[in-house]
Amino acid sequence: MSQQKEQVHFRLWNQRNRRLTPYVPGEQPRVKNLIKLNTNENPYSPAPGVEAVLRTYDPDSLRRYPDRESTELAIALAKRLNVSTSQLFFGNGSDELLAMAFQGFFPERTENKGVLLMPEITYTFYPVYARLFDIEIKQIPMRDDFTIDPAPFCEPSGGVVIANPNAPTGISLSAEDIEVIVSADPNRLVLIDEAYVDFGGDSAIYLVNKYDNVMVLHTFSKSRSLAGMRLGYAVAAEPLIEGLRRIRDSINSFTVDSLTQAVGKASIEDESYFQKSLADLIETRDRTSQQLKDLGFTVLPSETNFVFAKHEDFTGEDIYLHLRKHNILVRFFNTPKLNEFVRITIGLPEDMQTLVDCLSDYIDRK
Ligand SMILES: Cc1ncc(COP(=O)(O)O)c(C=O)c1O
Repeated sequence: MSQQKEQVHFRLWNQRNRRLTPYVPGEQPRVKNLIKLNTNENPYSPAPGVEAVLRTYDPDSLRRYPDRESTELAIALAKRLNVSTSQLFFGNGSDELLAMAFQGFFPERTENKGVLLMPEITYTFYPVYARLFDIEIKQIPMRDDFTIDPAPFCEPSGGVVIANPNAPTGISLSAEDIEVIVSADPNRLVLIDEAYVDFGGDSAIYLVNKYDNVMVLHTFSKSRSLAGMRLGYAVAAEPLIEGLRRIRDSINSFTVDSLTQAVGKASIEDESYFQKSLADLIETRDRTSQQLKDLGFTVLPSETNFVFAKHEDFTGEDIYLHLRKHNILVRFFNTPKLNEFVRITIGLPEDMQTLVDCLSDYIDRK
């Protein structure tokens, strides 16, 4: 961009825009034969019923705006989760629901109602939303082994957000610990982002029938192989769902398109395919973790579809660059505490074997 053009650009940005530090998603390079293990996408196809929906979808139905409540999808999901449809709310990926929840429930700085607590190491989108919506945050240090101590999250605050299992560590808190945090103060929202929970760990969904200050977010992007469709949902007591609806209807009333609703329903209806693909992925994850340990890596105990690993002879960047040279893309976070590690998404068994072989060659040469 020429300097002149850049200035014109900045000139029109308002104060909020100038304040932002946007999130940087993992790369999506269009390179052939790349083993892409950097954004926690699922290597398996979506459920076969999804393909059937895509092949038979009536284009004429796209003339109409979608059902704002995603009713048929909600009925299918409510049955599976054992909640009522009025406790469900859908969004264009769970990132959108996070944005709505931050906007609708955590106090703005000027309200003086306390800061938003989050773990020091967590999904890096949370501080981005906090800046956008002018929410003051406090990042709580982790234990040395990267586990989360629930005690500091029980202190008075304006709210809590926790990814459980956490990212990029892959480590989860028990549902009992989550309940301790939720029950510590009924006058603040505890937002539990369970993007990876289907791969292990305890879900806190059952808490929504017991507490009206907890909201759980799930996504179809990871365990249901539908990252490209953009579908996520919130589970919470009705007043919280109504709070989300108010935010949505102040921005864009139709966030989930009709085709996505139909695809989501088809995915939910095939439980056996879902369970089989999860089991296959978990088996690959556990085997890969062991192989990496055998090569001298420290691998954090993962309950997700990725592993966070480091090797004492190499920096995270060394490993990232070596793999990249061999057409394998993993995620490297160039920040203190994380820069010793790489985050490796679990792909197909043969791709993980290629990764392990490539790392084994690298370590042998040292
Ligand atoms: C912890 C966590 N939450 C939420 C998301 C967003 O997922 P979605 O694709 O549903 O927006 C991600 C995606 O990487 C994630 O890692």
